[in-house]
Amino acid sequence: MTARFITFEGIDGSGKSTQAKRLAADLKADGIDVVLTREPGGSAGAEEIRRLLVEGDPDRWSGETELLLFTAARRDHLEKTILPALEAGKTVICDRFADSTRVYQGAARGDLRAVVDQLHALMIGREPDLTFVIDMDPSIALHRGLARASGEDRFEDLGLAFQEKLRAGFAALQSESPDRIRLIDGNDTPEVVAQTIRSVLHTTS
Ligand code: TYD
Repeated sequence: MTARFITFEGIDGSGKSTQAKRLAADLKADGIDVVLTREPGGSAGAEEIRRLLVEGDPDRWSGETELLLFTAARRDHLEKTILPALEAGKTVICDRFADSTRVYQGAARGDLRAVVDQLHALMIGREPDLTFVIDMDPSIALHRGLARASGEDRFEDLGLAFQEKLRAGFAALQSESPDRIRLIDGNDTPEVVAQTIRSVLHTTS
């Protein structure tokens, strides 16, 4: 398998982080050089920006300011972590990337999609080779997310209706880019979900 850039997406509490970790561990066990990373964050500077984004009042930032902060964090992450790893021939597995911005800032919080796309083209300009969207019933996912009580629940505090909008947003994105984005049913045990992901990965390599 050549070095690939693989991302995991989904609503809060969908189990995508568990799946990203699992896939990274499985590929490493197969002898593949893997970098597991996440957004917002994944580099020293982007982790600092992350704290501004995930802590505090849900209304702390406007949609526009939030978009700029996520994009600044992503640019640093791309420069310092993702591109160097891909250039070194490593497979990069990233927990959230630009599709989260398209859905969260672009559709669910305000109608910023055109700005999101312009900023992405200007400052990021890179798509993953393959994206897994873990699809899950928002009422189950929301319960899981809040149960973590991580202190990073600014986004989860926005509620069930918001999570439903996000789910619809990810499904719409999948129909926009059906070759890159694969929708995975997350309403199953982590083992079964991981199995599905592995089989999709094999058919696309
Ligand atoms: P994260 O800690 O990854 O939450 P989770 O564990 O639920 O994946 O991300 C924090 C929040 O940031 C999450 O609610 C999604 C949101 N987010 C955006 O709104 N836009 C973005 O571009 C990204 C990467 C994340």
